[in-house]
Amino acid sequence: MNGILRLVIENPLDTAIRPVLSVVVPTFNERDNVIKLFEKLKATLEGIAWEVLYVDDNSPDGTWEVVRDLARRDGRVRCIRRIGRRGLSGACIEGILASCAPYAAVMDADLQHDDTQLPRMLSLLQSGTAELVVGSRYTAGGSAESFNKQRASASAFATELAKRVLRVEIADPMSGFFMIRRDRFEQLAPQLSIQGFKILLDIIATARGSLKTLEIPYRFGSRLHGESKLDPMVALDFLGLVLAKITNDAVSLRFLMFAMVGGTGLFVHLGTLFVALRFFDLPFGKAQAAGALVAMTTNFILNNFLTYRDQRLKGFAILRGLAAFYPTCGVGLFANIGVAFSIYEQEPIWWLAGATGALIGVASNYALSGLFVWRRR
Ligand code: GDD
Ligand code: MN
Repeated sequence: MNGILRLVIENPLDTAIRPVLSVVVPTFNERDNVIKLFEKLKATLEGIAWEVLYVDDNSPDGTWEVVRDLARRDGRVRCIRRIGRRGLSGACIEGILASCAPYAAVMDADLQHDDTQLPRMLSLLQSGTAELVVGSRYTAGGSAESFNKQRASASAFATELAKRVLRVEIADPMSGFFMIRRDRFEQLAPQLSIQGFKILLDIIATARGSLKTLEIPYRFGSRLHGESKLDPMVALDFLGLVLAKITNDAVSLRFLMFAMVGGTGLFVHLGTLFVALRFFDLPFGKAQAAGALVAMTTNFILNNFLTYRDQRLKGFAILRGLAAFYPTCGVGLFANIGVAFSIYEQEPIWWLAGATGALIGVASNYALSGLFVWRRR
């Protein structure tokens, strides 16, 4: 082959400087913060080849437009706009995997995390002193003074629980501010949960002590603009994550919530049955059918608000979802009765047959709902 041609093929024209550090910033309604954060990063990371990826879940305030605009003006900025999805952990995972720098940092958009720690975090990784560096509020020199009492005690409780149950040893496993080696992250990524807020805890618990981890203190500041997205439901996500990790991912939060919602359906069913018999004088068959219909409907609504809140159906999609949910439950009921019967025939223990049937029914409903009702768009 011609020498020059070979040279070109082996060394494609490559003028862009490859970033060493990717800063991943999940955003939801952070329109007023993203530029300010970029300016800060520019000053702090002077002399380092870096890039910033904002991962925006199609914020109603148009954060992605502001980021897109910024990206047009500066090649170090990238915007990932996700449609029909919500979730802090999922956004961080997607951001890190969309970059190629050997080191990735995750931080909030609202300036609560201290960007001036980034160079130090990077050099700790580059020198091999650590594979994961965590910005910590709870080691000497760190603080979370912007927390109100309620949030401070919730945070302390969750941290304690995580440490005991998951045997996580660092002081601040709930931190949302950290930097990690890409290769280590890529190894763990397939096992991480995209649901929830606690990606760092997930990384540490999944690595099971195999990640060389270092904490450095920082002061968790106050949010610049906008408001926190951490709502009480985050606590549920957290419990789900803990449960998933102790059962080695056998039990997912979604399944647990789905089953719990199913449990409430029983009460709704009995309540409706009672009202239909007592106050509407319906014959038993019709009353029982009404109970089932009402219970399926409330189950659908609860699942749409809780179990699948990150993929919540809205508008017309609600009707379409409901129309798919009824037959899904029908199949579940069929499986339930079929399994219960065959167990009962072999071993006439009523509660064993009943409980196994119910479990199979829930599992079937869950699997089919994920496929036909709340399917990923
Ligand atoms: N893409 C995306 N999707 N981003 C989200 C979502 C979402 O569903 N929810 C929140 N974010 C973004 C916010 O826009 C913000 O940039 C960042 O994630 C953190 O959300 P905040 O609402 O500011 O959370 P916080 O300040 O109450 O708590 C944060 O800091 C704690 C302490 O470090 C979180 O990072 C916690 O996980 C952390 O414990
Ligand atoms: Mn914040």
